[in-house]
Amino acid sequence: MATQMFEGKGHAAVYQKYRFAPGKELQQTILTYLQEKRANPAELVVDVGCGSGQGTRFLGEHFKKVVGTDISEAQIQEARDAPSLPGISYLVCPAEELPFKDASVGVLTSFTAAHWFDIEKFMREANRVLKPGGCVAISTYTVDMSVRYGNCSDELTKVFRECWDLILKHSHDRLKLVLDDYKKIFEALPFPDKKRITDIFDNIPMTVASVVGYMESASPYQVFLKKDPEAAKSLLRDTEKRMLEIMGVSSAETPVEFWVRHVCVLGCKGQ
Ligand SMILES: C[S@@+](CC[C@H](N)C(=O)[O-])C[C@H]1O[C@@H](n2cnc3c(N)ncnc32)[C@H](O)[C@@H]1O
Repeated sequence: MATQMFEGKGHAAVYQKYRFAPGKELQQTILTYLQEKRANPAELVVDVGCGSGQGTRFLGEHFKKVVGTDISEAQIQEARDAPSLPGISYLVCPAEELPFKDASVGVLTSFTAAHWFDIEKFMREANRVLKPGGCVAISTYTVDMSVRYGNCSDELTKVFRECWDLILKHSHDRLKLVLDDYKKIFEALPFPDKKRITDIFDNIPMTVASVVGYMESASPYQVFLKKDPEAAKSLLRDTEKRMLEIMGVSSAETPVEFWVRHVCVLGCKGQ
């Protein structure tokens, strides 16, 4: 069954504000694969579970026609309201019932979303809508993250991880697929020509405020917030305070390096 965790308007707004676009290494990994497989240029690219459009906008820079799809109206509204490119459009629909004709899609992507789908049904849909020779790129960032700043990166990362671990206690069962580096998602992809890359590292330029905002946008934090609003809010407040103290700065807008590890499942449908 599909799992809906991103329905609230407040959550979608936090999402738009703090979720980052795919990093350069992940972008390059996907683009290089699509070139190798001659899937670029593709006439139609579909980004499934596009949320507020971070990955869709990256695709729009490289492809003429990109459709972002998401089950959440609030997320799609955020995506439509954001500055965009002419070839990009958005649709509200479940990943398990994509409103595209058989063999009509050149490339199908999903960024940090596939673990929420009914995997079996989604893979069937991917297989149905993709053209022969069409490709998929299904990625996620993992929970392996670190924060770097001057000579206090270790201490900063420790504080970040302490907070992150407390938030992750409220994780949905589906996050096991992420903890497992998308192994099950890779296995479920019904194409013999496929690979899974688990060591894509990206430096996402952030500030202390946006690292804290990123944690706020995470679905387990939103679960925590519903269960115990005061505890959830004070955890983030304290974490930001501790990070600033360690860095010896007063502004939460101070830039830091936020390092993430991505996993990407790539595959090509046979002719
Ligand atoms: C963690 S967000 C990722 C959003 C965006 N791709 C990004 O990289 O930031 C997961 C998204 O998947 C969407 N989603 C969850 N289940 C879905 C389903 N069954 N069909 C389509 N979208 C779904 C959610 O509404 C949410 O916007």
